[in-house]
Amino acid sequence: DKATRVKLFQLPEYRQKRVRVFGWVHRLRSQKEIIFIVLRDGTGYLQAVLSGRMSQTYHALTLNLESSVELVGTLQEVPEGKNAPGGHELIVDYWKLHGSAPGGDDAFTNRVNEKSDPSIQADLRHLVLRGETASSILKLRAHLLSAFRETYVKHNLTEVTTPCLVQTQVEGGATLFKLDYYGQSAFLTQSSQLYLETCLASLGDVYCFQESFRAENSHTRRHLAEYTHLEGELAFITFDDLMSHIEAVICDTIDILLARPAAAALIKQLHPAFKAPARPFLRLSYVDAIKWLNEHKIQRPEEDADGNTIKDADGNDKMVDHAVGDDIAEAAERKMTDIIGTPVFLHGFPAHLKAFYMKKVPGSGAGRDAFTESCDLLMPNVGEIVGGSMRIADSEELLAAYAHEGIDPKDYYWFTDQRKYGTCEHGGYGLGVERLLAWLADRFTVRECVLYPRWPGRATP
Ligand code: 4AD
Ligand code: MG
Repeated sequence: DKATRVKLFQLPEYRQKRVRVFGWVHRLRSQKEIIFIVLRDGTGYLQAVLSGRMSQTYHALTLNLESSVELVGTLQEVPEGKNAPGGHELIVDYWKLHGSAPGGDDAFTNRVNEKSDPSIQADLRHLVLRGETASSILKLRAHLLSAFRETYVKHNLTEVTTPCLVQTQVEGGATLFKLDYYGQSAFLTQSSQLYLETCLASLGDVYCFQESFRAENSHTRRHLAEYTHLEGELAFITFDDLMSHIEAVICDTIDILLARPAAAALIKQLHPAFKAPARPFLRLSYVDAIKWLNEHKIQRPEEDADGNTIKDADGNDKMVDHAVGDDIAEAAERKMTDIIGTPVFLHGFPAHLKAFYMKKVPGSGAGRDAFTESCDLLMPNVGEIVGGSMRIADSEELLAAYAHEGIDPKDYYWFTDQRKYGTCEHGGYGLGVERLLAWLADRFTVRECVLYPRWPGRATP
């Protein structure tokens, strides 16, 4: 038999030819003497027709969704309007069942479908992944990662692979996953930043994709316990250079995606209204953002000295205006991005709200009362997708920052050495890949933007 073995994405080149395809029964419609199958192989979809004798075998009569099959036949063009993906269908003249799938109560769509309870969808994530939406999101994710890599080649950053098992914190001790490491204590990494900083004098500007782990008890739309962290670090730059670089990396990556037909089609499918954001991105200082929130009557829940929210007479959170020094919490941030409707850089946060390593805005005050050369990039519908800053370049100042954070400098000797041996002005950023994807693909939650999401209490499948 001269049928050529092909993947479904290749089919447009095989019209009127005999082909052999392998895949899973994605949709199934049986009539008296004819069976319509939509086959799925992970690269595309194909309508196939089994008629006559072929629709009457035992396997044909007991065929169920998600069975795996091999089909051989001639690929026919079909007129527009007929509901056949790709505008063609396979007239099958030989087929073989590779693996059956159950019907009845155990049938695929009876175990999980769009209406299933979220906890069932989470337990059956391995089956949910077979759906069109989930698989499209993951395909787009793959395009996104490769487009970022292309962008970094253009901007001359070298990719490094950083360790996951570490003995230092970056973003505060409270969110570390601790583990026993041959009798010593170690953590799962929160951020590769410190390692990237040590690469500058060796490799020049660098970036990495690494899983980051946060033991946050956050059950929000945008928090995961494990997420893919894209981080970059650049030497001999100013704070302004840093924000321009972040903007360029994001915009160049989106341009690459929109220029790739397969990626552009996925964006169109998942987020029909998507438009590449205009440059330059709006930049709003933290102090101006506080004013903006108050002008727009966006308040925050008042807290007592222990950090508990105070209730009003009706049992609702007592709301108050924002003041300089307050954190801009997720709810306020979300309202802000909803109103502004474009990407916005918030910059210059107070030191006491941010991590220990951040460079202070020159002349803005001392210690933790100062403002920092820090920025968060907020996107509509998601909020913060990037956090970045310039770094303390002076070793004395860094030692003081350790002391303030309660960090034992002993564990950070290698990070301190970076300042001792030829320090330089430098800065970098971390981007949450799932958050960017949630924005790009218009997803309600980052849980949809990762293969197997982890959140408090969930590490299966
Ligand atoms: O703002 P973060 O905590 O910054 C850092 O970790 C820096 N050390 C990065 C750097 O400068 N190299 O995290 C950076 C980004 C956030 O803006 C957010 O997009 C994402 O990581 N992120 C999370 N994504 C999903 N779930 C979580 N729990 C996340 N925490 C942070
Ligand atoms: Mg942050």
